[in-house]
Amino acid sequence: MTDTPLERCVSIGDVRRLAKRRVPLPFFDLIDGGSGNEVTLRKNEAAFEQIELFPHYARDVSQITTKTKVLGAELDFPFILAPTGAQGMVHPDAEIAPAKAASEAGIMYSLSTFAMTSIEQLADVCSGSKMFQLYALTDEYTTTEMIERAKAANYDALCITVDSPVNAGLERVDRWGLNAAVGIPPLGTIFEILRKPVWLWTQRGVFQNRLPDVAKRIADRGGEIGPDFFDRIIRKDLTWDHVSEIAKRWDGPLAIKGILRPDDAQRAIDAGASCIIVCNHGGTNLDGTPASISVLEDIVATVDKHTEVIQCGGIRRGNSIAKAIGLGATATMAGRPFLYGLAAAGQAGVARTIDILRKEFEIAMKLCGATRISQLPSNVGNIHIEDEKDRQSRHVEKTASNVLKADF
Ligand SMILES: Cc1cc2nc3c(=O)[nH]c(=O)nc-3n(C[C@H](O)[C@H](O)[C@H](O)COP(=O)(O)O)c2cc1C
Repeated sequence: MTDTPLERCVSIGDVRRLAKRRVPLPFFDLIDGGSGNEVTLRKNEAAFEQIELFPHYARDVSQITTKTKVLGAELDFPFILAPTGAQGMVHPDAEIAPAKAASEAGIMYSLSTFAMTSIEQLADVCSGSKMFQLYALTDEYTTTEMIERAKAANYDALCITVDSPVNAGLERVDRWGLNAAVGIPPLGTIFEILRKPVWLWTQRGVFQNRLPDVAKRIADRGGEIGPDFFDRIIRKDLTWDHVSEIAKRWDGPLAIKGILRPDDAQRAIDAGASCIIVCNHGGTNLDGTPASISVLEDIVATVDKHTEVIQCGGIRRGNSIAKAIGLGATATMAGRPFLYGLAAAGQAGVARTIDILRKEFEIAMKLCGATRISQLPSNVGNIHIEDEKDRQSRHVEKTASNVLKADF
């Protein structure tokens, strides 16, 4: 038996368990935890279980295509790696490894404002499609500069995250004493970290990284980087007018991330968005929001047929991707699944994560009797025999326009 532990991972749950074994618990909790009671975090995943798939059988599924187009970029299947900050906290290859894995898999990578790799360094290694995620900062000069730098480095799209005027914090991480206020952690935390000497050795030097696009840039210009840096740096007075100004400056495919209400989706479109990312930040900001998948259909029903919708949060299975597409999403996005892969085994771990989800998605499509993603809307929902025809016509009408325009 020569299989490596990574090769023995057959589900995202397995990859998560491997990550937990490889990375000290305080750092695992940093990627795994949610805010408050973690109600939203749990709901995001659980809500997918309530959605049923209704297969069509005896259809020729010997040839299927999972290709799609979103934000002007072609994807081999409707899945995007979500922006997540400071990926180097779990693996020294930080953002470089997932970006390479995404390019090789033919999907899009999203670089966070709080990445440990700069906009330009990432562009150099990412041969596939890429999106830059922007937090509007109190330092307007740095915000504008990031937009211009992303444009110059040929990012396919910009994504403005609007759901985090404050950092809710993760209690699991606070208990370990690992927050932005860097100091000497408590003894128990040091003990946990020392239990993973191989990880600690590979991480040497990583923690000196100053977040090149923000902290380092601001410090270089004489700005103050204090312990409450994260909370001070994000603009709390952001309005749709500011979003509209950013949209004009960017002047390209623009996604607004963190939308949970149809009225906010409309405001985002009015401000210049071409894509809505339905998302509650993976249950890491306001605990108590609905699962993102449970509000997707209402948002799809509100937006015009030119607006794309990305479903973000709670995806741990390929059939969840099928469900989201079936409910009208143009594509899907996930954070933790690939962070587990990164923590478990760097680029190979991320590649494994993508591969698992892609294979599960293809199986789900074939078992649904769908040869193209635009057919999935006819597979989702509560079909009662007596009103099936009516339900299908309503549902397909509402959702297919959104998926169809992205389907090859
Ligand atoms: C550790 C971590 C860091 C994150 N950092 C960012 C970020 O910098 N910018 C952002 O827009 N979203 C960020 N998010 C939210 C993700 O983009 C995404 O919405 C979330 O992970 C989706 O939920 P999932 O993990 O269940 O897929 C982060 C999420 C996690 C777990």
